[in-house]
Amino acid sequence: MVEIRPIIWENGKLMLLDQRLLPDEERYLVCSNPGQLREHIRNMVVRGAPAIGVSAAFGMVLAAQEYFHQEEMLSGAKPFSWSHFLESMELAARTLKDSRPTAVNLSWGVNRMFQKMLALKNMPPKTLLDALEGEARAIYKEDIETNKRIGKHGAALVSSGSTLLTHCNAGALATAGYGTALGVIRSAFQEGRIRHVFVDETRPLLQGSRLTCWELQKEGIPVQLIADAAAGHYISRGEVDLVITGADRIAANGDTANKIGTYTLALLARKSSIPFYIAAPLSTVDLSIRSGKEIIIEERDEKEVLYLGEKILAPRATNARNPAFDVTPAELITALITEKGVIFTPDEHKIRQAFENGVS
Ligand code: MRU
Repeated sequence: MVEIRPIIWENGKLMLLDQRLLPDEERYLVCSNPGQLREHIRNMVVRGAPAIGVSAAFGMVLAAQEYFHQEEMLSGAKPFSWSHFLESMELAARTLKDSRPTAVNLSWGVNRMFQKMLALKNMPPKTLLDALEGEARAIYKEDIETNKRIGKHGAALVSSGSTLLTHCNAGALATAGYGTALGVIRSAFQEGRIRHVFVDETRPLLQGSRLTCWELQKEGIPVQLIADAAAGHYISRGEVDLVITGADRIAANGDTANKIGTYTLALLARKSSIPFYIAAPLSTVDLSIRSGKEIIIEERDEKEVLYLGEKILAPRATNARNPAFDVTPAELITALITEKGVIFTPDEHKIRQAFENGVS
């Protein structure tokens, strides 16, 4: 398997593969503080729900590093004030959470780091820093392991010789590695079950064509790129056996926010009676909201729709709308594929049970 590493933490430094440059160029940017990371998340240097959660966890380590260095506390030159440190970390947490609103993994990652920090109240700076770094590394490692489990559970749903359709990029690039929806595709391919994969180009930022095609080609998985609008054509002709995507936030009742265009695919799949699967870790489930109506949908700059690079695509006076995500109601989702197992016809009861006892 080819290793794709969107996030690297080495010698106390965070490096992000600049996904805006793919597939032409593989270049890493060093990220030094939470403010810089917020901009990198907003600008899509790093994107995909789990990947922004994992990088935000490292962002909290950067915040602690910055605080201790600026205040010269690691060397003991200045006394350590817990309350001052806490204030500074709260600010960092707000900065990171403020970067994009829809993917819940972002606040999940930041909150987990915050809990770790609170459990070590009044410990010396070096102990705190080491523990925070250890926690972020654990989040990174767990994400890859979780994806592999999702891949294994999902592959079992793919019959031999299947053609799949996916949207956006829910691959190694969108996670710490391996991927959720693409994790299922990777695992099913290794088991010899995949004939070929249709990839929606995913306008306006082209995560499908730029990122998913790049990843799948590296693995030698047969891919055909299609315009988003062509999905209905192939599905209605019986050329697609199942549709699978990732998720950015799943409400307690199973309603799921994912890349704009996902809802349309779920409707198309239902109309043609083929399965529509969401592959996501339980960290993408937000039990604090009851339904998809409560999910905040990010609206991005209209320029992303109006321009392709430098080239304008519409008359200059044109206005555009640019929602980054939509919500697919749970009733259209055949199953949620999680690390704890497959939740068929998801609802609040089954989802809560998955958290408590796994999926039976
Ligand atoms: O705007 P993006 O590129 O961050 O959107 C990404 C998606 O919608 C993915 O499908 C989702 O985050 C799941 S990634 C495993």
